[in-house]
Amino acid sequence: MAFGLFKKAPKKEENVQHYFALRVKNIIHETKDAITIVFEQPPSGKISYKAGQFLTLIVPIGGKEVRRAYSLCSSPFVDDELAVTVKRVDNGLMSNWLNDNLKVGDTLKVMEPMGQFTTEFSKDRKRHLIMFAGGSGITPMMSIIKSILTQEPDSICSLIYCNRDIDSIIFKDELAKWETNYQGRLHVIHVLDNAPMNWQGYSGLLNHEMLVKLFERIPNWGIDKTTYLMCGPEGMMKNVETLLAQQSIPKERVFKESFVQGTIDKDKKQEAQPAPGELKAREVTIRYDGQEYKIMVEPNRAILETALDQGIDLPYSCQSGLCTACRGKAISGKVKLDEEEGLSQAERDAGYVLTCVGHPLTDDVVIEIG
Ligand SMILES: Cc1cc2nc3c(=O)[nH]c(=O)nc-3n(C[C@H](O)[C@H](O)[C@H](O)COP(=O)(O)OP(=O)(O)OC[C@H]3O[C@@H](n4cnc5c(N)ncnc54)[C@H](O)[C@@H]3O)c2cc1C
Ligand code: FES
Repeated sequence: MAFGLFKKAPKKEENVQHYFALRVKNIIHETKDAITIVFEQPPSGKISYKAGQFLTLIVPIGGKEVRRAYSLCSSPFVDDELAVTVKRVDNGLMSNWLNDNLKVGDTLKVMEPMGQFTTEFSKDRKRHLIMFAGGSGITPMMSIIKSILTQEPDSICSLIYCNRDIDSIIFKDELAKWETNYQGRLHVIHVLDNAPMNWQGYSGLLNHEMLVKLFERIPNWGIDKTTYLMCGPEGMMKNVETLLAQQSIPKERVFKESFVQGTIDKDKKQEAQPAPGELKAREVTIRYDGQEYKIMVEPNRAILETALDQGIDLPYSCQSGLCTACRGKAISGKVKLDEEEGLSQAERDAGYVLTCVGHPLTDDVVIEIG
């Protein structure tokens, strides 16, 4: 969800290019288990994006086309090229494939930049972004940090960055460089699970006492000028959410980007189950790219899955209700979502739905995408 004010997404032009073949210009080994992939902008013209958005990489692996979302760590205001950083996940298909196989000069199919974990920048704005990042969750933060420091001279950023150990800190030197170059406007505080003997920073679990100490080290601009962002492992995000709530920070000032499914409150999900018989095969109308499609969605199958099976090339990435690549607006009818993590309350109130986890509850569902 966009932080700052929630804005209705502008209507996309029809028949714009959704997919690109991007050449890998450089691969940077950030840590022993994370690479940054730098893509050349396509010759047909620069791909524009917002800080905090992600690219969807589409790679044939084992005879299947696999899609995964990767947040852009480059900034549209600072970097000429597009870059994403991919950290290995244990037994993960795409993250390990990219770390093991990708070479400079290769071409990857990508879907246009998407995502709502973004904001508009303006030189007249004066705000404090307090960011909590864990592991690969630094990627959208890096893009936002570079953007805000260069675009909003009166705004500042504080980053609390949690990692396993010192060797797993992605962008350690780059962050230090930005902190030096923008002295007083970027505060980076590292927190490590396993700190080395001579470690000057913080170590251990981010708990209430530590948060209080961390907040003493960063400027206090008051709640109206402060926005809290978080991106990292599920455990860390839940922990930070609870800690911020204990500090009486209103939910409306806290924005998060989830990389992995699991943040769902299982009990809430159970409660949200439809009554028996409520789910049955229903027709859904989808408007996308100037076309109108009608599909019959069987019970317990998602709208996106049904459309894809019928060869309708709708946008998607994570297929688990996190990234919002499949977001559409239900202009009529009722849709039940298995997972609402990716949508803000304002978006839900405005009728936005996620087709990858969406099931029609009425016979008159019409969804506009784009
Ligand atoms: C909006 C968005 C932005 C993202 N940006 C980035 C990014 O900038 N950098 C990055 O490295 N990843 C990012 N991810 C995660 C990425 O899309 C993949 O999910 C991740 O690389 C794992 O894919 P895989 O194919 O290797 O693992 P899979 O084969 O899909 O999964 C293997 C196992 O690992 C678990 N798993 C999947 N992802 C994670 C994870 N991130 N942490 C822990 N366990 C996991 C799965 O539940 C599964 O059990 C992002 C995800 C989203 C939704
Ligand atoms: S494809 Fe990611 S939310 Fe639906």
